[in-house]
Amino acid sequence: MSEINIRNVGKTYGKTTVMQGVTLDIEKGEFVVILGPSGCGKSTLLRMIAGLEQITSGEIAIGGTVVNKLEPRERGCAMVFQNYALYPHMTVAENIGYALKVAGVPKPERIARVAVTATSVGLSDYLDRKPGQLSGGQRQRVAMARAIIREPKVFLFDEPLSNLDAKLRVAMRSEIRKLHRELGVTSVFVTHDQTEAMTLADRLVIMNSGNIEQVGRPSDVYHHPASRFVADFIGSPAMNMVEGEFDVEGQFTFGKGGRLQASELNGVRRPGLRIVLGVRPENVRRTQAGTDGAIAGVVDYVEELGASRLIHADVNGSRFVAVDTDTAEITTGMPVHLSVDGNALHVFSAEDGRRITH
Ligand SMILES: Nc1ncnc2c1ncn2[C@@H]1O[C@H](COP(=O)(O)OP(=O)(O)OP(=O)(O)O)[C@@H](O)[C@H]1O
Ligand SMILES: [Mg+2]
Repeated sequence: MSEINIRNVGKTYGKTTVMQGVTLDIEKGEFVVILGPSGCGKSTLLRMIAGLEQITSGEIAIGGTVVNKLEPRERGCAMVFQNYALYPHMTVAENIGYALKVAGVPKPERIARVAVTATSVGLSDYLDRKPGQLSGGQRQRVAMARAIIREPKVFLFDEPLSNLDAKLRVAMRSEIRKLHRELGVTSVFVTHDQTEAMTLADRLVIMNSGNIEQVGRPSDVYHHPASRFVADFIGSPAMNMVEGEFDVEGQFTFGKGGRLQASELNGVRRPGLRIVLGVRPENVRRTQAGTDGAIAGVVDYVEELGASRLIHADVNGSRFVAVDTDTAEITTGMPVHLSVDGNALHVFSAEDGRRITH
């Protein structure tokens, strides 16, 4: 059963349209991550679910009830923000228990529930501190605890980890996932960090300029990006992409005389059809000169990553990045031969960037 239904939702600020016809169903207990570049409308969508922002058109339902006209507190959502939004003059315990106090829950029950919730996020030793005496990670936990104690139907997270250092972010990520396993509360998590998105999501929603580009499991989105935008946005280093067309012999030609055998692309090998061909760096390997189907280029530069390195090569005026696990010396200016895995090719329309299946 769906917990949240977003139906054809639009948003305008004055005369500016920032969202158009967004439709998305979120299942009960699901962990959905909304991912997209800055300004694409992630926070706006989340705030519209929470009721902090009016929707201009369409409908949002939570638990089967249309909430368009409901106040935020009537919607059963608890939101966790990037800047934590804690009350600085209150102790950790008071911050966590504040919503219960406002709701008139008797003190003994409040104290007991605060204790249980604080333990669940590892804060039981800090109950008497003020937020100013906590680290960033601990403050984030207080914000989480404050959301958990309200026993909401839905958790809404707006980049809650982006103020933390890289190591802590990874640790908090797995804690959020663990909490979700334990509590099973439907969660919508907004981020522009793709690793965070890939590791947390049951389902990923990729947004671009106020539209949903693709919805799917992280591995599906990675292996079958629905558009050139998604292909470029997901994956690091980014997917190699070259625009070109098929010649009469069925070879893919690109750049200044670049040619690639692409016999796997039977369905789209129509002479003259302009496409964008994509291949991820891990599917491009260094090979020996003369290898069947290899493309020749010149090394632009080499990025050392420790366990592997990235070779940035110029192939007939087009840039190819290849993952290299070989240890043989390779430096700028050297000739290089690359083999492209024909079973890992992505084809997009040069016109509208949509994926063309082959
Ligand atoms: N109050 C407002 N008035 C006018 N335009 C706004 C307002 N709030 C947001 N916008 C615009 O709406 C668009 C979406 O903003 P939103 O904050 O949802 O983006 P976002 O995806 O959360 O970005 P970020 O990753 O930077 O947080 C942006 O173009 C923004 O400029
Ligand atoms: Mg935002």
